[in-house]
Amino acid sequence: MALLAERSDASARATAHPGGPGADAAASDVALDVRHLMTSFPTHAGWLHAVNDVSFTVPRGKVLAILGESGSGKSTILRSILGVQPRRTRIGGEALINGVDLLKMNPAEQEKIRGAWISMIFQDPMTALDPLFTVEQQIIETIRRHTTMTKAEAADRALELLKLVQIPSPERRLKAYPFELSGGMRQRIVIAIALACSPTVLLADEPTTALDVTVQARVLDLLRELQQTLGMSVVLVTHDLAVAASIADEIAVMYAGRIVEHGTTREIVQSPTHPYTLGLLHANVQPGQRERPEAIPGSPPNLANLGDSCAFAVRCPSATEACMAGVPEMRTVQGAHVARCVLVKPAPSAGATKEM
Ligand SMILES: Nc1ncnc2c1ncn2[C@@H]1O[C@H](COP(=O)(O)OP(=O)(O)OP(=O)(O)O)[C@@H](O)[C@H]1O
Ligand SMILES: [Mg+2]
Repeated sequence: MALLAERSDASARATAHPGGPGADAAASDVALDVRHLMTSFPTHAGWLHAVNDVSFTVPRGKVLAILGESGSGKSTILRSILGVQPRRTRIGGEALINGVDLLKMNPAEQEKIRGAWISMIFQDPMTALDPLFTVEQQIIETIRRHTTMTKAEAADRALELLKLVQIPSPERRLKAYPFELSGGMRQRIVIAIALACSPTVLLADEPTTALDVTVQARVLDLLRELQQTLGMSVVLVTHDLAVAASIADEIAVMYAGRIVEHGTTREIVQSPTHPYTLGLLHANVQPGQRERPEAIPGSPPNLANLGDSCAFAVRCPSATEACMAGVPEMRTVQGAHVARCVLVKPAPSAGATKEM
């Protein structure tokens, strides 16, 4: 575990704040404040509860990684915040940027702030670009939708953005169509478009998963560099612990639509507490590791029928009867490091449980 290249500087620890009602005190340091987010989709089997009471804050200029297996609700969180869910989706809770609740906005208002306050790199970069338009046309279109720039000003900005994401021969690439570019290059263009209007918060959904490992590392380095230079806050969704550890200041671990552990990257990587987080760490291949990683046995629960016990209990090697007595509350491990598990011994100074 120590071999994972985790990011964990002292400044990250100072601003670590795993969300919830207590986040008010640090409001000015908070770029995005998500409170009690609930998202359910209508299905033939009834309402599918994809996100269940999720709260977190993202400090200004920091990166929060949301880590979890496929189907745990990671993309649903981002799409709900951005306001791009299908019409019949039920969404509850709050998502505050600059003190304004994005979830209370009507579609026209949401469209206005998208790009400028908040923008997103979607999970599938290959379909994020329109094959019929050049790179320049697509960047100009995004800029003009959200600003009052003239076409010439937007064209200058497009060139600036290509230089920012370190595309070689940017003047030539502006005139290219997406199919003329490599996967890594296309993903840099997608990032450039997301940054076009200098958003306060960037949502990045598995931004490097579709890329080769070497290209993945370069794109992650670029994202981190841009985030630091521009002072942006980033929510990065990934199923890959090594990716989360390499870029994030904090990690929130998701299971079956809930955050089950949240702490600084160092806390999650070096002192994982929830049995699910431990399972993810064991399932992750370490550099130089020879033996096969151990996959977590079993599969995630049916989100249409979650029940009222710990959703991980049936897969958990440490489960006891207490795990079936209700959905565990978030408990303080130490400081701002919290875990939703009855096995966590309450920290002496922090009280028994923490509302989230
Ligand atoms: N529009 C929708 N209608 C119905 N169910 C949906 C919809 N979008 C997502 N879901 C369901 O919600 C659950 C969470 O999906 P989500 O895409 O958020 O998972 P994820 O953690 O992003 O997974 P992955 O790592 O595979 O991308 C899944 O069971 C999924 O099938
Ligand atoms: Mg997803």
